Amino acid sequence: MRLSTLFPLATLAALCSARFSGSAMEGLEEAANFQAEQLDRMRSFLGPSQASEPQLQKREPIMTFKNPKAKQFHVDGTKLPDVNFDAGDSWAGLMPISSDPHETRKLFFWFWPTTNASNKNDLLFWTNGGPGCSSLEGFLQENGPISWSWGQSEPTPNPFAWTQLANVVWVEQPVGTGFSQGVPNITNDDELAAQAVGFLGQFLDVFEELKGSDFWLSGESYAGFYVPYIANFIYEHPGLALNLHGIWIADPSLSWGLVQQEIPALRFALAHKDLFPFNASFYAQLQNISDTCGFTDYLDDFVTYPPKGQLPLPVGATINNETLAVGVRADCRMHSPIQREVSILNPAFDVYRVSDTFPTLWSVIGFPESTQQFVYFNRTDVQDAIHAPHIDWVTCSDGSVYTNATRNGPGRDTSVASMLSVMPNVIEKSVRTVVVHGLADFILVAEGTRIAIQNMTWNGLQGFQTPIEPDSFIVDNMGNFGNLHQERGLTYVEFSYSGHMTPQFVPWAAFQTISFLLGKRDSPSGTF
Ligand SMILES: *[C@@H]1O[C@H](CO)[C@@H](O)[C@H](O)[C@H]1NC(C)=O
Ligand SMILES: *[C@@H]1O[C@H](CO)[C@@H](O)[C@H](O)[C@H]1NC(C)=O
Ligand SMILES: *[C@@H]1O[C@H](CO)[C@@H](O)[C@H](O)[C@H]1NC(C)=O
Ligand SMILES: *[C@@H]1O[C@H](CO)[C@@H](O)[C@H](O)[C@H]1NC(C)=O
Ligand SMILES: *[C@@H]1O[C@H](CO)[C@@H](O)[C@H](O)[C@H]1NC(C)=O
Ligand SMILES: *[C@@H]1O[C@H](CO)[C@@H](O)[C@H](O)[C@H]1NC(C)=O
Ligand SMILES: *[C@@H]1O[C@H](CO)[C@@H](O)[C@H](O)[C@H]1NC(C)=O
Ligand SMILES: *[C@@H]1O[C@H](CO)[C@@H](O)[C@H](O)[C@H]1NC(C)=O
Repeated sequence: MRLSTLFPLATLAALCSARFSGSAMEGLEEAANFQAEQLDRMRSFLGPSQASEPQLQKREPIMTFKNPKAKQFHVDGTKLPDVNFDAGDSWAGLMPISSDPHETRKLFFWFWPTTNASNKNDLLFWTNGGPGCSSLEGFLQENGPISWSWGQSEPTPNPFAWTQLANVVWVEQPVGTGFSQGVPNITNDDELAAQAVGFLGQFLDVFEELKGSDFWLSGESYAGFYVPYIANFIYEHPGLALNLHGIWIADPSLSWGLVQQEIPALRFALAHKDLFPFNASFYAQLQNISDTCGFTDYLDDFVTYPPKGQLPLPVGATINNETLAVGVRADCRMHSPIQREVSILNPAFDVYRVSDTFPTLWSVIGFPESTQQFVYFNRTDVQDAIHAPHIDWVTCSDGSVYTNATRNGPGRDTSVASMLSVMPNVIEKSVRTVVVHGLADFILVAEGTRIAIQNMTWNGLQGFQTPIEPDSFIVDNMGNFGNLHQERGLTYVEFSYSGHMTPQFVPWAAFQTISFLLGKRDSPSGTF
């Protein structure tokens, strides 16, 4: 592995110090020194750098499985295309969601045993969101043992792999996602949960050594629906041979779009004004909409600690008479006009991390930007290595993963968002529940998550009773990294420097919070 291909900073620092040495501009010399120190720190927390020779000698397996059926899923960590280190043994393939021998619906999974033998009894489930986005995105670019993130020329070992803390299974779900097979036929997330639990039952029949494991569910984005609903289903339908203890969701969908996108949108743009450099007349137009629709003072008036009562809907809200779903009046839309306008001003604008600038980094999975390069999981050699079917693989499926029972065609999720439905029960039945949110995420805005939390009643009280203290989240050996609050079983953390995919953008911070979820540390916050 060549660190310099990962971190062009090295070259930059070298260039600067050469160019400015001996010059009268001390500030520039100092800046170059700081950059060099920064690079040293980066190197030291990324762990010992790999030898330039590929390390292909086999690692000793920490886990083996007796059932002969497990063999067909085995993946040799020295034989993954383009991975020039031994990633270790893993197991992948398609697993039916029921014991019916004619079952056509199968979920694709990739299971990795922990690299730390003392965590062998811990199993963590990961799903991406979408709906319809593949969990292999999380695997390869967020929290898996192999990291091939945006802009990386080649895959590298991930020093923040969650497999250090537990056995981890990445699952492409629901049916209709990634390599998973079968015709989608769910209309809501209880049905989604039933299928995920059906899958887990089949999975445990093959990998029976995992039965009885301590168990946690994690995911990102639309998994803010999936994960709480799956957890709720498991708590309400005992029988799965795993001991569920809690969930972790990042930048989750968990309330109305009105709450998570529209109300906080203008405040977000104003707080990041250098990245949303609209002219005065456009800002005045936005301000007018915000004032007229009841968004401007909403957070100051209603997101109080403790809350003064149930949080009202602003005048810009609509309610569907039939489904009671809350929406936004067409003339009150804030989020789309802001995103549209900023993406004209800045062609490299990234709604998933607003601090991104030109050039847009390539992504080996073709997401969020399509690239001229190959898509890793769309290659037949990769598909063969992981027992995946030869199909056109895309990170986020084009089709719907839900059906509409009325018209018997593609549909939408009819579930009520988790913080307005199942989440209180999940928190109450869990040991730990962790919600994290990146502060540079504009697809879902952290202040919207605060609205949702303050409007939720769990363990006998509504919302947090005391304020979220600023600068209360510390990453070990780094310092202040955002805001943390914990009450009555719910932990909420806001990450600085992070967009939507927190384990990708701030792996150190995400790692600390997942480590807390799994009971490996007493507080998600660290010391500096
Ligand atoms: C392995 O996990 C145990 C228990 O979580 C922990 O105490 C130990 O420090 C870990 N070892 C390493 C090398 O990370
Ligand atoms: C989906 O299809 C399967 C197989 O035909 C059927 O058993 C199941 O009840 C269907 N599920 C739903 C939610 O319609
Ligand atoms: C201000 O910005 C808006 C939206 O970008 C644009 O349509 C308008 O022409 C701009 N006005 C001036 C005076 O630049
Ligand atoms: C605000 O918007 C309303 C409705 O679109 C419009 O009538 C009014 O002129 C606007 N006010 C300003 C100051 O732009
Ligand atoms: C707050 O919760 C109540 C009760 O579930 C609901 O009626 C109301 O619409 C919610 N408000 C917001 C802003 O979501
Ligand atoms: C919904 O209910 C409101 C108030 O009762 C009514 O004014 C409106 O026409 C109804 N909308 C539809 C689509 O039925
Ligand atoms: C995936 O591979 C197929 C051929 O194997 C190709 O037709 C398709 O365009 C590829 N898709 C992407 C997104 O690269
Ligand atoms: C299902 O389809 C019917 C008929 O096209 C439509 O009226 C309804 O809104 C759809 N439901 C959902 C949840 O999309």
